[in-house]
Amino acid sequence: MYVKSFGCQMNVYDSQRMADTLAPEGYLEAATAEDADLIILNTCHIREKAAEKVYSELGRVRRLKEAAAADGRNVLIAVAGCVAQAQGDEIIRRAPAVDLVVGSQNYHRLPDLIARVRRDGKAVDTEFPLDDKFDHLAIPSLASTRARGVTAFVTVQEGCDKFCTFCVVPYTRGAETSRPVDKILTEVERLAEAGVREITLIGQNVNAYHGEGPDGRPWSLARLLGLIAQLRGIERLRYTTSHPLDMADDLIAAHRDLPQLMPQLHLPVQSGSDRILAAMNRRHTRADYVKVVARLRQARADLALTSDFIVGFPGETEEDFAATLSLVGEIGYSGAFSFKYSPRPGTPGADMDDQVDEAAKSDRLHRLQAAIDRSQAAFNHSCLGRTFSVLFERPGRHGGQLVGRSPYRQPVQIEAPPALIGEIAPVTITEVASNSLFGALALAQEPALAGAGA
Ligand code: 5AD
Ligand code: SF4
Repeated sequence: MYVKSFGCQMNVYDSQRMADTLAPEGYLEAATAEDADLIILNTCHIREKAAEKVYSELGRVRRLKEAAAADGRNVLIAVAGCVAQAQGDEIIRRAPAVDLVVGSQNYHRLPDLIARVRRDGKAVDTEFPLDDKFDHLAIPSLASTRARGVTAFVTVQEGCDKFCTFCVVPYTRGAETSRPVDKILTEVERLAEAGVREITLIGQNVNAYHGEGPDGRPWSLARLLGLIAQLRGIERLRYTTSHPLDMADDLIAAHRDLPQLMPQLHLPVQSGSDRILAAMNRRHTRADYVKVVARLRQARADLALTSDFIVGFPGETEEDFAATLSLVGEIGYSGAFSFKYSPRPGTPGADMDDQVDEAAKSDRLHRLQAAIDRSQAAFNHSCLGRTFSVLFERPGRHGGQLVGRSPYRQPVQIEAPPALIGEIAPVTITEVASNSLFGALALAQEPALAGAGA
């Protein structure tokens, strides 16, 4: 079996759960698609380009299937994820080599669906079932968790009720739901047992988390983080992706009170213009966002912020765009993603009149990316000479090198023995090149930046 993930971290997590669910059925993870008898593409529908990638990949995979058939091998092709959810059997019409289309809420049914395909031919399952997929998805073996490394994602929340006018997520992932605290805790305990040191809690709107706690009441994300922080072995915590409106007081306080919570936050703003924020139905103004950031920085002075931006949303003028550029300067991001607006079928934005032409979108994207690059470079350069904790994740490209991450999530490369993988140690930054930091093991950490375990 070969699972290829496109798009966000939620898909990476789901791909691993699909592999875990199929492992007891005898499906082993293959190193390449060529070696697999089941190929699953876990797709992304967020922008047109992402969705189109699936079809070019399907062309490649179809040729593999044909070559295998010539050798007498039957290779099954499955399409999972958000394109599957949005397009259903249309995928099989457009790409007849596809055997199975499975929506993002139905992965626990994969073993049955595959059996059905082998028996009856093609199958499509994109319902939103009432039973919770998380209750049925298999847990990974200790060995496969170890093989996946010392950092892990855990989905705590799925779907979204915000309905930003550009976004397909509320349609492809459905209404916002949160997993119960005890289920998450069990999963994190297992990960810790397998040597995972850093957990990132993920969800499309993760800070709207309100899962049932052990007391039967809804718990906030801050409370969940506080509980996980007490687990032995978990040294670092992160969460993503957050909506500015759901940055609750207790979550802001957690950035002050929980030393395990890393000082980096992905807080997408999309635009710096109030007019565009309103048209996007973001439900907050630029001033609201700036205020939330100020409160976060009051709680944790060295908090590094990252964001997502969209340029060329319908009606965006040069003046609106200038407001976005000025916000980048005002916040001082440590990094950000930026995208050209891509009209998504079924979303309100796609039907808006004043679509921005492609040339203006490209021009704005270039200018925005240049501003983000400057901001990121300034942040990285401010790290030169500083000493902070690094979690070593894997060997580097060159022998004797390890790659780890700083508290601010920057990749850090150092010369160190492989035995340090999974360890957290102080590193002094000696060089900054493009987006990577280079450093050397330090004897002690800067006292001002020290935090428990990080
Ligand atoms: N066009 C362009 N970018 C989009 N995003 C979401 N929908 C669209 C769209 N239709 C971006 C947003 C979001 C990120 C995950 O993808 O910036 O935060
Ligand atoms: Fe999409 Fe995020 Fe807006 Fe939800 S909050 S609709 S996931 S952009």
